[in-house]
Amino acid sequence: VRHITVIPEIDMPGHSRAILCAYPELACDSLTYLNSNELCIGKEETFTFCENILKEVIALFPGKYIHVGGDEANRDIWEKCSLCQKRMHDNHLGTLSGLQNYFANRIEQFLHKHGKTLIGWDEILDGDISKRAVVMSWREETDGGKEALRRGHATIMSPTSHCYLDYYQDNPFFEPRGIMGYTPLEQIYKYDPVPAEEYDPALLLGVQANLWTEYIASIEHAEYMIFPRILALAEVGWTYPELKSYPEFKERVLSASDYLKNQKGIRSFNIRTEMGPRPESLIPVKSLAKGKKVTYLSPYQEFVGSKEAILTDGWLGNWNANGNRWQGFGGNMDVVIDLERITDIQAVIASFLFVPTAGEYLPDNVEVSFSDDGKNYRPAYAQEIQSDYTIKYHIYPYGWTGQDKTRYIRFHATKPITWGNILCDEIIVK
Ligand code: ACM
Ligand code: ZN
Repeated sequence: VRHITVIPEIDMPGHSRAILCAYPELACDSLTYLNSNELCIGKEETFTFCENILKEVIALFPGKYIHVGGDEANRDIWEKCSLCQKRMHDNHLGTLSGLQNYFANRIEQFLHKHGKTLIGWDEILDGDISKRAVVMSWREETDGGKEALRRGHATIMSPTSHCYLDYYQDNPFFEPRGIMGYTPLEQIYKYDPVPAEEYDPALLLGVQANLWTEYIASIEHAEYMIFPRILALAEVGWTYPELKSYPEFKERVLSASDYLKNQKGIRSFNIRTEMGPRPESLIPVKSLAKGKKVTYLSPYQEFVGSKEAILTDGWLGNWNANGNRWQGFGGNMDVVIDLERITDIQAVIASFLFVPTAGEYLPDNVEVSFSDDGKNYRPAYAQEIQSDYTIKYHIYPYGWTGQDKTRYIRFHATKPITWGNILCDEIIVK
């Protein structure tokens, strides 16, 4: 007996493209697997189908938990479906999240009737869900784990910020294609899953690492992503924060890595040759714009920790877009820096993060212009950019160099694709 319970996850009603491909009748009005991932909640057949699948899954897995996903459903498609609208009307569901919540509750009741406990991603909290449901928290930005504990749910912590093993574990320029992010061993090790607020410790079931395999085609690659990072999360799960020490842990990881390699044949990432954070992010930049006010003519995305000052705070970003170093724009980037007085300048340079698998795109056009009064601008630089989508990861600098004088600098970058972001860490002025 290994004291391991294998818990299946059958994701519904989103992430269901494969079902729609095989059973097109489960899609909403006039939609197919080509343009939707979501099951139609208006159709009774959807419930019959899901319950039949769950019956088979229940027969296969003896444990008490069944995970039914619930994450990342594009709820907007239900707005345009007459059957989903009828379901909402008949059940007095005022919102699309209410419709998904209706679905989750029916599935929860079905599992409960069969003696099983539902686990769902933190989207199941967008509505009133039975307290019997276990919440698996993944969205760093909504901090669903804290909310789940506050509402009295048993909770498993698995935030993208610390628990995603499909994210890069080292300098992405030298790593196999990952989906996004930067989650090195130390980042996982320093995770503290215990909320600062008061909570019932019996409800915090533990932590989970996620290894989604869109970009992982072999067991060897999976082992490389899992080890040694899973050792760090294990220690997060069983060691009190005051007893943790990263240098001491890293020493133990070195001997564990030798054991895993020599005794178990596991092909881990080599922590001995780890390159570490982006070197440029560790030293402050010298810039005439440092600390100067930035006016946003188009809004920035509210990433975790985003602030107006990011573009002139004197710090370049790390390998990843989250945190408070990169400023993201869901539309165009259009900002003005006020140098406070007319100043001799020689360069205006900004870098952009390019991770197409993460929806982090380069602008297709960058323009820099100058003004002495903040009203009349003269163009200084314009560059069209052709992205090379075969490149998995890059950081590209664009901007003006020359000799000029100005007080106001406008930096304008246009976003080529309707979804995703363009991301800039700093506008450096020399
Ligand atoms: C998730 O990563 N979509 C749970
Ligand atoms: Zn529908």
